[in-house]
Amino acid sequence: MVELTPSFLLEYDALDRDHRRLADIVNQVVKAIDDGEAEKCEDLVIGLVKSAKSHFANEETLLVKIGYPNVKKHQAHHRSLNTKMDHMIEFAKMAGENQMARDSLRKELVFFLMDDVITVDMEFKNFIAEKAKAGKA
Ligand SMILES: [Fe+2]
Ligand SMILES: [Fe+2]
Repeated sequence: MVELTPSFLLEYDALDRDHRRLADIVNQVVKAIDDGEAEKCEDLVIGLVKSAKSHFANEETLLVKIGYPNVKKHQAHHRSLNTKMDHMIEFAKMAGENQMARDSLRKELVFFLMDDVITVDMEFKNFIAEKAKAGKA
């Protein structure tokens, strides 16, 4: 199970809410696997990818709006996750019958969420905080 402890929060509600929602879905997938209900993984992971993509779009809109200087780099980072997300869906489709797919899926999902989605966002935490303090975020 993953948990968003304080060091994983941006302290910006709209984005933290999105991240929590993604963490909830990841936890539902882990639970489905643990409960022997891996056939539920496909729908859950499709939902996760959809939510992740809409989160990336929301986040990019905010970063553009507040003038974050490295927005292009962060957009490119989000785009670079497309292949990984496609693979996660493929693993999820096989999860019902295949132990290796279940193990890979569980590992990939946790790394995806904690490293690729949340930790990388910490680069703009201070920038958002300063804009928010100035009433501009
Ligand atoms: Fe994010
Ligand atoms: Fe991001």
